[in-house]
Amino acid sequence: MAQKNLDWENIGFSYIKTDYRYVSNYKDGKWDDGQITEDSTIVMSEDAGVLHYAQECFEGLKAYRTEDNRIVCFRPDLNAERMVDSATRLEMPPFPKERFIKAVEEVVKANEDWVPPYGSGATLYIRPVMFATGNVIGVNPADEYQFRIFCTPVGPYFKGGAKPISIKVSDFDRAAPHGTGNIKAGLNYAMSLHPIVKAHEEGFAENLYLDAGTRTYVEETGGANIIFVDKDGNLVIPRSYTDSILPSVTRRSIAYVAEHVLGLKVEERPVKLEEVSSFVEMGLCGTAAVISPVGKITDHGKVYEIPSGMDEMGPVIKKLYDTLTGIQMGHIEGPAGWVHEIKK
Ligand code: PLP
Ligand code: COI
Repeated sequence: MAQKNLDWENIGFSYIKTDYRYVSNYKDGKWDDGQITEDSTIVMSEDAGVLHYAQECFEGLKAYRTEDNRIVCFRPDLNAERMVDSATRLEMPPFPKERFIKAVEEVVKANEDWVPPYGSGATLYIRPVMFATGNVIGVNPADEYQFRIFCTPVGPYFKGGAKPISIKVSDFDRAAPHGTGNIKAGLNYAMSLHPIVKAHEEGFAENLYLDAGTRTYVEETGGANIIFVDKDGNLVIPRSYTDSILPSVTRRSIAYVAEHVLGLKVEERPVKLEEVSSFVEMGLCGTAAVISPVGKITDHGKVYEIPSGMDEMGPVIKKLYDTLTGIQMGHIEGPAGWVHEIKK
């Protein structure tokens, strides 16, 4: 076994096929034992439920190599729980939490050579996915499913890594009030594909989505939650009054670190778009985004320039970034249970 020879500092956020994946199938009312396989392809019926009624959900987490060469991942229990919630909402049989964590361990261990070196800026992105393979033709849940976890080494989600980005207020909505915005269903991302293509064409890195009901409140972006810092140095986190924001593992961890490690005041509440002009720092947070600073929001003719600017992260977001990534990479001790070692 030897570490793969990739240009780790320069890989982007795209799929690189690794050697092994974990697969378990659900049939006759139960999940089978599951196994590690080299087969990266899936063969299924033309009538599979996923193809017609989008019965699919997924997760995203990362494995990191620490300075002392251990391999760890970050709070996989929360991804397991969120996938149970996603599956339940989509009438899919949840994959048991303890099995999810064990499968993450197995697939990362099997692909150990693909875990990027410490300090390279790259990590191993782990993508659990579950989908309906059983036949459906009327609108009903299927009776057969596949749960799969593959992984791929990735670099920063946004070009330039920690450089501030410019985003726009989307004309489209990503999630209906009381719909599926609070689960990690592929259908939410299908909704966001046309808007993200448009945003990129116009030179923006991401879309900011407002609440679909009133188009007044800030919800989140296509692939990350939002955090703000107000002029008193407090962390302000948008809350959805229609439960249409994904409960980000990263955002929940940042809120805890801000309050309990850095001693900041944390407010979680509905945030109006017009309030954005009163904030001094803004970031997008998620597994892929980590914490990506935002320097500018364009809402048609109106531009909100975030005072921390387009050159570098503001000081509070930088402190949060350093603390969070320090915990994830294993050189700052985090709360018990956050860092999950993959034992060799
Ligand atoms: N919001 C959306 C829409 C996402 O796709 C993601 C990515 O997973 C997040 C937020 C961040 O969630 P997490 O921190 O659990 O990765
Ligand atoms: C993640 O951060 O894991 C996500 O699923 C977001 C996606 C846009 C890559």
